[in-house]
Amino acid sequence: MAKNEAELEEFRLKFISRKSVITDLFGEMKNIAAEDRKEFGVVLNDLKDSAQTKFKELIADLKSSSASPTESAVDLSLPPVPNELGTIHPLTITRRRFIEIFERMGFNISEGPEIEDDWHNFTALNFPENHPAREMQDTFFIEKNPDVALRTHTSSVQVRVMENKKPPIRTLSPGRVFRNEAISARAHCVFHQMEGLYVDKNVSFVDLKQTLYHFAKEMFHQDTKVRFRPSFFPFTEPSAELDISCQICHGDGCNICKYSGWVEIGGTGMVDPNVLENCGIDSNEYTGFAFGMGIERIAMLKYQIKDLRLFTENDIRFLRQFKSFS
Ligand code: PHE
Repeated sequence: MAKNEAELEEFRLKFISRKSVITDLFGEMKNIAAEDRKEFGVVLNDLKDSAQTKFKELIADLKSSSASPTESAVDLSLPPVPNELGTIHPLTITRRRFIEIFERMGFNISEGPEIEDDWHNFTALNFPENHPAREMQDTFFIEKNPDVALRTHTSSVQVRVMENKKPPIRTLSPGRVFRNEAISARAHCVFHQMEGLYVDKNVSFVDLKQTLYHFAKEMFHQDTKVRFRPSFFPFTEPSAELDISCQICHGDGCNICKYSGWVEIGGTGMVDPNVLENCGIDSNEYTGFAFGMGIERIAMLKYQIKDLRLFTENDIRFLRQFKSFS
């Protein structure tokens, strides 16, 4: 049997080609006595036929042996290749870290429905009827009069917690929120927020600031700077927007922080007394602070992700990069 193409070719040259030994023998025909020539011819033709038959067999054998290679056959005695584990989604990693930081400060977790009524999403939170803030949030309404909508923020969970529990309250509410916004690298119509609420006797703005300072340093870096900008929300008074020093350029200026060195990560403020009263909590006895932060925004800064759409595209090359963080 021919072991390879080279041996097959060797056989072809020796027995089949026009310069083969068989051709040479045919050339001997003229030297054969006339009465023996016929017999010589018959034998030679037989020889030629069997050489050709053998050649075809060799081709077929070589083909079938390369189709089922014996040397690289599967070794069934080897242990199986282990199944690779997936990675944890960066938003999950960020949410878990968030919870870890706040659990150490005595916060528990509470959740509420994604489909909300007007009371919990707006009215109890001190949004007056026809207040422009209602439109500001670009709500996805499911029903009108009475209104039912996809919640526009996790502040709705604050109301549910305060309605059902008396202070002291220290709670963290992670969840999906929905706003009618065009999808881009920086915005999406579905994203995640982390709400925080702390209600007790004598809670002040000092507690708010110190808690969020601590959070920023734990989540990012001990050198991370925090800045509060005066702002407005119907449910907090006073209100502030929370900025941290840019985690991409560290203050040197880049297109993520628009060369300002600061990036907004959420809103915060002291719970408006009207909200406490709406939820059955005596605002003369208790005060509180609240905050709401975007989980995507925090994950983007933490892992230097420049396009928010990557979180929902399920591109395995993106997700695999979080293996070491899981
Ligand atoms: N709910 C606000 C938002 O979605 C954030 C916020 C929460 C502000 C709590 C103040 C207090 O923009």
